[in-house]
Amino acid sequence: MASSAQTPALDKPNPTEDWTVVLPRRGKQKRNFHKVIIHERQKQEQLWTPADIETNPERESKLMQKIQTCIRKLEISSFWLKFLDQLQTPEIFDRFLKAVGSEGKMQMVIYGIGSIESYEPPRLQLSLAILMKRMFSWIGEVEVFDPVISLAESRVLTALGCSVLTVNEQGRRQALRPTMFFMPHCDAELYENLLEANWRHDLLSNMTLFGNSFEAYEQHVSECKILKLADSRKHILAIRQFVKELPIDSRKHIVAIRQFVKERSIDPFSDDLFRAFHGSSWHFFDIDPLSDLCDAKP
Ligand SMILES: C[S@@+](CC[C@H](N)C(=O)[O-])C[C@H]1O[C@@H](n2cnc3c(N)ncnc32)[C@H](O)[C@@H]1O
Repeated sequence: MASSAQTPALDKPNPTEDWTVVLPRRGKQKRNFHKVIIHERQKQEQLWTPADIETNPERESKLMQKIQTCIRKLEISSFWLKFLDQLQTPEIFDRFLKAVGSEGKMQMVIYGIGSIESYEPPRLQLSLAILMKRMFSWIGEVEVFDPVISLAESRVLTALGCSVLTVNEQGRRQALRPTMFFMPHCDAELYENLLEANWRHDLLSNMTLFGNSFEAYEQHVSECKILKLADSRKHILAIRQFVKELPIDSRKHIVAIRQFVKERSIDPFSDDLFRAFHGSSWHFFDIDPLSDLCDAKP
């Protein structure tokens, strides 16, 4: 599934999870019929093996070539240069340094990458993670998980230096050490699980997250005014006051976006880049130990 190919992944149901249909209150149904689908959050970790176990050297080498081509294209794009520029501004870089702290390394956990064999946005997202790892020596081991990963994809990811998890953590990894969670265009439920599992000063302070804009979720909830929707986003809403969110496509990226627009008519790659990263933000959890996180507990 490459939802980013169509819409921002704000409320997309996830086929691997159960979901609930919330209907408007009685009396309003005929006049104003619309339904909001909210899925129940999975909380249990489960052992996992790929559902698609068909593989052969040809399939793997074709996929490896696709990824290498994608990395090369990304590396020479104006997007990557602007992305790097932004990462190296004191506003962001100092936050990374603080998060890395005395450990000297920050591991990267990639959740919800999607199918890197079937879709370009997941390939671009993976390429971005790989380029960051190559560029910054303080990025340590890279772990990847998505239940849709096939055996062929898993082997290629391993050949690229990543470890594919054998447990579906349901996004509930505790940040016991500095950890960058790389979760582009994931469903809100995965961010909710992550925040819930890390709802402590010390754990949140170890986290840096790349993913959907929490501000956009807040806006969406306030526009929809549906209690159940707010309830299903409660950790995202409650953490907002403790998060510094820096969108990747604002201010310093305006030039790059203008460049995209210019290139779009001649270069379909710019469209793919847009699909892969639109609406994404860096989230830094710089939480004062004296602030009352308990009061904010949803
Ligand atoms: C909205 S899609 C985004 C895919 C890709 N990042 C993109 O932008 O096209 C969300 C992804 O999260 C994955 N996902 C669902 N449950 C997950 C879990 N427990 N851990 C990691 N990924 C999960 C889904 O399989 C799906 O590929």
